[in-house]
Amino acid sequence: MTGAGGKVALVTGGSRRIGAAISRALAKAGYEVVLTYRTSGREGKSLAERIGGSAVPLDLSRPSTFGRFADRLCRKVGRLDLLVHNAAVLSRTPVSEASPAAWDAVFAVNLRGPFLLTRALLPLLRKGRGDAGVLFLGDANAFELWPGYLPYCLSKLAVPPLVAGLRKALPPGVRVGVVRPGLVLPPEGFSAERWERLRAEKAGRRGIRTPEGVARAVLRFARSGTYNP
Ligand SMILES: NC(=O)c1ccc[n+]([C@@H]2O[C@H](COP(=O)([O-])OP(=O)(O)OC[C@H]3O[C@@H](n4cnc5c(N)ncnc54)[C@H](OP(=O)(O)O)[C@@H]3O)[C@@H](O)[C@H]2O)c1
Repeated sequence: MTGAGGKVALVTGGSRRIGAAISRALAKAGYEVVLTYRTSGREGKSLAERIGGSAVPLDLSRPSTFGRFADRLCRKVGRLDLLVHNAAVLSRTPVSEASPAAWDAVFAVNLRGPFLLTRALLPLLRKGRGDAGVLFLGDANAFELWPGYLPYCLSKLAVPPLVAGLRKALPPGVRVGVVRPGLVLPPEGFSAERWERLRAEKAGRRGIRTPEGVARAVLRFARSGTYNP
């Protein structure tokens, strides 16, 4: 344990990939980690057991459940020091397939869900030691407006303004920040060869490129309160 003893962190989508690296790093830093899963219950519970935390189900596309989720979390851990909005829908949505349902699915999870979950968890965030943090995951490449991922890119472009707005709106004891990773892991179903080509093309670009690097940025935010770690 290295300093965060007794603090509680919630990591959405914290079972796998980047979320799992964040969950592991926070647990190593002394946080009691509650990670959420939607479909990856088995991985989530297994990871939670290994890091001494817990795994709870949460579907970010169903805001009507957030009140009950907050009550359950309150009974379980009593308060929240860090909320990491990691979960996202990173699905391929070419314009020809961007149905209203596909569009809504992306924005519900990447933007509306984190906004409304923050609102639902605000009472818990205010029960901490007066230095709670809410951290969003943006995307350093969202401005590329990849044609196969246009709704995803638009949803992630909206994250920094959402963060800026919440900084004005939330009480002073709740810091709000954003981490904008670069090309870290290929989206599910993305060709590995194409991914490596893309990473080589963007080699000189800024942006964190490993799950562990993203997790370190989360820790920097948690420890220093830097807004853009
Ligand atoms: N991958 C990259 O290179 C990259 C680059 C820049 C930014 N980012 C950002 O970093 C974060 C993590 O990226 P990633 O690639 O690790 O993400 P990911 O694997 O595509 O998704 C993370 C998790 O989101 C959860 N999720 C999806 N729909 C959900 C819903 N309706 N309700 C609740 N949870 C839901 C899933 O949980 P279950 O598995 O339990 O269903 C999934 O494991 C995202 O915010 C992403 O935008 C990633």
